[in-house]
Parts: sequence; C-alpha cells; structure tokens
Amino acid sequence: MSLLSLKNVSRRFGSLAALSNISLEIPQGELRAIIGPNGAGKTTLFNLISGLFPPSEGEVLFDGQSIKGVSPARLVHRGMIRTFQITEIFLNLTVYQNLEIAVETAQGLNLRPWLSPARRRSVRTAIDELMETLHLTGLAYRTAGELAHGDQRVVEMAIALSREPKLLLLDEPTAGMGDEETDQMTDLIRHMHGERGITMLFIEHDMNIIFKVADRITVLDNGHLLAEGTPSEISANADVQAAYLGGAK
Ligand SMILES: Nc1ncnc2c1ncn2[C@@H]1O[C@H](COP(=O)(O)OP(=O)(O)OP(=O)(O)O)[C@@H](O)[C@H]1O
Ligand SMILES: [Mg+2]
Repeated sequence: MSLLSLKNVSRRFGSLAALSNISLEIPQGELRAIIGPNGAGKTTLFNLISGLFPPSEGEVLFDGQSIKGVSPARLVHRGMIRTFQITEIFLNLTVYQNLEIAVETAQGLNLRPWLSPARRRSVRTAIDELMETLHLTGLAYRTAGELAHGDQRVVEMAIALSREPKLLLLDEPTAGMGDEETDQMTDLIRHMHGERGITMLFIEHDMNIIFKVADRITVLDNGHLLAEGTPSEISANADVQAAYLGGAK
C-alpha cells in the first residue's frame, strides 16, 4: 500500500489552474523528488498534501485514510512532517534547548510543569541520539542564531526527526546553502532515507542532489504531471528536457 496517494487532484485559484488532475502514488520508504519550472505547482502540491487547503477536486490519502477535513496539526500528529523554506527554529535558544522543546513536544510532555527523573532521562537520551545522528553534539550549547545557515537547517532536520516522521516533506532543503553545506544536507537526506527508511518527498532545484539521492522523480509543468520515473528515465525524457532541463533553470 502507498503511504501517500493523490487521486485526480486539481486546485484552482480563481481562474488559474495551479494543479490539474494529478495522480501520484508514493510507496512506503521511497525518496521522491518533485521538480518543475517556476510556477509549476510544486508548493501548491505540498500545501494540499499537508492539509493547508483542500483540493478543488480529487482526493489525498495518507496512510490509507483520506485527509479531507483533517487539520495540518492533526496530520503532524499522524506522522506527516514538513519543513518550510524559512528557518523555523528559536534563534535565541541553544541547539540543545531547541531540541529539548522538540523532544518534549513530540513526547507530549511540553505542557507538564515537572518531569520525573525517568522522563527527564528519556528526553535527554533522545536529544543525545539526535545530536549524534546529525553531528550536532559539538554545537549543543551554541545559540541557534549564531550558527551558519546550513547548521540551522540541520537543527531543523533534527526537530523534524524528533517527531518520528512517517512522511517527511522537504521544501528546498538546500536553498541558500554553499557547496559544503549542500553536500552535508545531501548526506543527511541519504541517511534519513537509507538508515531510518523514512519516506520523503522533496522539492529541489539542484539537479546534482536529485540525481544523487532520489529513487524516483515527478516532474510538474504548468500544473500538469509531465513525467515520472527514475533519475535516468527522467534525464532521457525529451518532454522534460524541453520543459525543464533545457529551460531557464
Ligand atoms: N494561494 C494562492 N493564491 C493564488 N494563486 C496561487 C496561490 N498559491 C499559488 N498560486 C499560483 O499557482 C501557481 C503555482 O504556484 P506554486 O507556488 O505552487 O509553484 P512552484 O512550482 O512552487 O513555483 P516556484 O518554483 O517558483 O516555487 C502559480 O501561478 C502561483 O502564482
Ligand atoms: Mg514553490
């Protein structure tokens, strides 16, 4: 069974058809890249999947159930986690404190005024594991606001991971990064997919990353599904070359 299915989904904004009749199946464990020129409908697709607004037509199923009428917060609770293009961390807190809030929230402990020593230990262990996995241990007591942009995005990934996602939606995870940071993020995406088996959907403009990590690629163009396939199928597809690879980006 697919973890995520879109069945004939369309979305209009007034007279503009931002997405037209999109059907998509994302099997458990897949790493799928969504690409397409500016205005193709990529972000709109994420907004529909994460329940920010409903499709004009069609249906989105997550984990076998329709998301119709389900709030974004409820979807997060069910394991659909999204990172946005803007950094979402508390810049005036340390990396450790950011992760502490994330882990306590994920464990449903954030509203408790007092934690038992056992709970506190389990929170600490979870934070330590996250920091180790993402190589953040050395930055634990640095204020998030003073970190390099790439490191801030890694903290964001740690926060996303603390929620134990079933499906991770990444909106241009390497936007604004230099080469070294981009490589680091690419490794991280590979790790989360390879070792943790997290199903991921990511919008990305950097073709090098896409061809390095994606299992399959979906190409949108002008609201339509132009092509879908493995990286080698997509790079050999004449329609894609015309619409995208040979285009402005
Ligand atoms: N809330 C909205 N209201 C009206 N029009 C919108 C809205 N969101 C998106 N659109 C329009 O829908 C189309 C698709 O936009 P979308 O942001 O999904 O494209 P995109 O593929 O993410 O592009 P980019 O690569 O530039 O981020 C565009 O024409 C956009 O102007
Ligand atoms: Mg966009």
